[in-house]
Amino acid sequence: MTSTQQEIDVSYSVSNEFFKLWLDENMHYTSAYYSRPDMTLEEAQEEKLERLYNFAELDDTKTVLDIGCGWGSAIDCVVRRGIKRADGITLSTEQLAWCKERNLPKSDFILCDYALYEPKEKYDGLISIEMIDHLCSPAQAREGKAVAIYREYFNKLAEWVEPGAAFGFQAILRNRVPRKRQDLKDLAFTADVIFPGGLNPRIEELVQAVNPYWEIEELSMLRTHYGKTVAEWLRRMRSHEVYIRKTWGDELFDDYDRYLRTCVTGFAKHWSGDVQMKLRRVTPR
Ligand SMILES: C[S@@+](CC[C@H](N)C(=O)[O-])C[C@H]1O[C@@H](n2cnc3c(N)ncnc32)[C@H](O)[C@@H]1O
Repeated sequence: MTSTQQEIDVSYSVSNEFFKLWLDENMHYTSAYYSRPDMTLEEAQEEKLERLYNFAELDDTKTVLDIGCGWGSAIDCVVRRGIKRADGITLSTEQLAWCKERNLPKSDFILCDYALYEPKEKYDGLISIEMIDHLCSPAQAREGKAVAIYREYFNKLAEWVEPGAAFGFQAILRNRVPRKRQDLKDLAFTADVIFPGGLNPRIEELVQAVNPYWEIEELSMLRTHYGKTVAEWLRRMRSHEVYIRKTWGDELFDDYDRYLRTCVTGFAKHWSGDVQMKLRRVTPR
């Protein structure tokens, strides 16, 4: 059971104009990768994509699927870097409209739950950036179902490529639990109000769930990179405070200010993390 279309729309269909005010120019809504401390958010987002493009071993003779493609930022990057064909799937109606407006060559965007997706032919490589956190609800995790749900996702994706194919994967993570009551309330607010139905996986759950079809060839932790990314989103959003309050109301500004502040603290205090993995499709014995 993934987040429902309605829950996804709460998180991503607020207004494309609203997100455009504070995300980078290309609309990546996931951690950037700062290989140099003086990088702009735009440069660090391109760097994140370059790593995933290389992890997925893409080039202009390859086809790729981006599972949970957001506003199409990753597809935009792979098309610029060189690709034979790139498809993206999302559950958000607003995101799909934005993706289509990009009018990118060699690409297609589909509104579809990944669990129901049936590709016409196998892809050469895969990318998925911080979509897996929509697959397991807090209630399912309490029932001990998280690893099985994540494994279902990895197994399904394995059907869409040949053995030997590579997968550039990125996920937000949950780690330590805060001690203070207010911190717990802020985290619960973020989960319930901004991202209803979702739950960040733990790194050990993902390491278990990639088996038996995927081998982890490389793994990097991006916790500090995500801290820097959300701090920049917060700075940019606050720089438009008057306009946001006037256009969408005080509640939206206050909710997003609280959520982004909680994220900044969460990455600094290790409540949350982020991981990039290079996965290789293997044949089980
Ligand atoms: C945090 S956003 C990340 C978007 C994009 N990958 C990026 O880097 O900006 C999560 C994305 O996963 C998509 N998503 C969530 N559950 C999904 C599902 N079951 N099937 C397809 N897409 C899904 C959402 O619609 C959204 O586009």
